[in-house]
Amino acid sequence: MNLFELIKYRRSIRKYEERQIPKEDLQKILEAGTFAPNAGSGQRSMIVGVHNPKLVERLGKMNVAMMRRDNLIGGHVSDDQPSIIDDPTIKSGFYGAPSVAIVFAQGNFLYSIPDAFCCAENMVLAATELGISSCIIARAEETFYNEYGKQLMAEWGVPEGYVPRCFVLLGYCRGDYPKEKPRRPNRTLIVE
Ligand SMILES: Cc1cc2nc3c(=O)[nH]c(=O)nc-3n(C[C@H](O)[C@H](O)[C@H](O)COP(=O)(O)O)c2cc1C
Repeated sequence: MNLFELIKYRRSIRKYEERQIPKEDLQKILEAGTFAPNAGSGQRSMIVGVHNPKLVERLGKMNVAMMRRDNLIGGHVSDDQPSIIDDPTIKSGFYGAPSVAIVFAQGNFLYSIPDAFCCAENMVLAATELGISSCIIARAEETFYNEYGKQLMAEWGVPEGYVPRCFVLLGYCRGDYPKEKPRRPNRTLIVE
């Protein structure tokens, strides 16, 4: 697959095998995250790869607990890869993925959030190249907004003032890999 094919092939996966991804592949994916474009060339993001499925599961449950459903009426994400919006019986916001990359970024920096999501995009593309499925997940700050979350951040040496910005789930797709989603029309324009 060339890069353009890979970009179209990548999908957000929410059904995972139990099989763990190799640590060397996780390291390559994290490294790809660190090579993302970053505002002012500050390289301010820090990425923690959690390769322990039990800890991933615990974080996934903390993540789903922070989901607010009151403003989601009518929301629909995917038929073939249902999200917690589509199926309220799903117990983990991490969908059984065996690994997760967590992007932390400097809280008081104007481009903290875009920086983090550039890292996430690099990581999902790198994962696809390695045959690993992925999904970007939100509610990172809320997930860590408790004593256990603060304790983990201290253990991992996350610098003072850094904020969890997003997650990237990593694992192998269980069942059929979903097809490309059609694009809504009229979303690009070239002006000469
Ligand atoms: C900023 C952002 C936040 C997202 N948050 C979640 C999330 O919390 N849970 C989830 O299941 N998917 C999440 N996604 C994945 C989107 O649902 C997914 O990209 C979208 O449905 C398009 O599907 P595709 O990635 O398969 O093309 C997020 C994606 C982005 C870019």
